[in-house]
Amino acid sequence: MSSIEQKQQAIEAAMRLAPVIPVVVIHDLQAAVPMARALVAGGTPAIEVTLRTPVALDAIRAIAAEVEGATVGAGTVLGVADLHAAQAAGARFAVSPGSSPRLLDAADDSVLPLLPGVATASEAMALLERGYRHLKFFPAVPAGGAKLLAAWASPLPQLRFCPTGGIGLSSAPEFLALSNVLCVGGSWLTPADKLAAGDWAGIERLAREAAVLR
Ligand code: 3PG
Repeated sequence: MSSIEQKQQAIEAAMRLAPVIPVVVIHDLQAAVPMARALVAGGTPAIEVTLRTPVALDAIRAIAAEVEGATVGAGTVLGVADLHAAQAAGARFAVSPGSSPRLLDAADDSVLPLLPGVATASEAMALLERGYRHLKFFPAVPAGGAKLLAAWASPLPQLRFCPTGGIGLSSAPEFLALSNVLCVGGSWLTPADKLAAGDWAGIERLAREAAVLR
């Protein structure tokens, strides 16, 4: 078992790899490795594969085994079984849209660092009590956007965020300019049409644009 502090350091390292963590919904397992290679080549090596499709765990397994330089995580981790499956597949971190006491208890007993989502100060405080200093802010734009995160910086100075949800290339900079933001998450780097077409060069271009946002 790793301590919460060791896991916080690991999640911080993943959050600092690039200004953007691509959030991926993958339907075709064959796309996983070339997509991840394109994201790494473009400069966004921390990749969140959401557990929303039947092939997601196999995609994580393939990326972890075959893509040098990638730090692959599992997203949409909703419960204990998801957390355990993500770890078994080789994920290096887990992301959840919110948190539950059972999920947090399981994360305490797991080596896998968890980045749990929050949308209120009370949720953030509850996680701080459990040792979490790195949080996802979700859904970032509907929940209050950069203004809300800026307002948390003074009363909650220990916390660092990965805002995700509704952010794109043009709105990412206002989040990345905040002192309490290490990176943002977003699905715009891996659009469904480019994934379906196997447009890896196009995905690499989107990653390159994102990689220099800060
Ligand atoms: C999601 O819910 O898929 C993630 O939060 C990404 O959101 P986005 O599609 O708005 O980038």
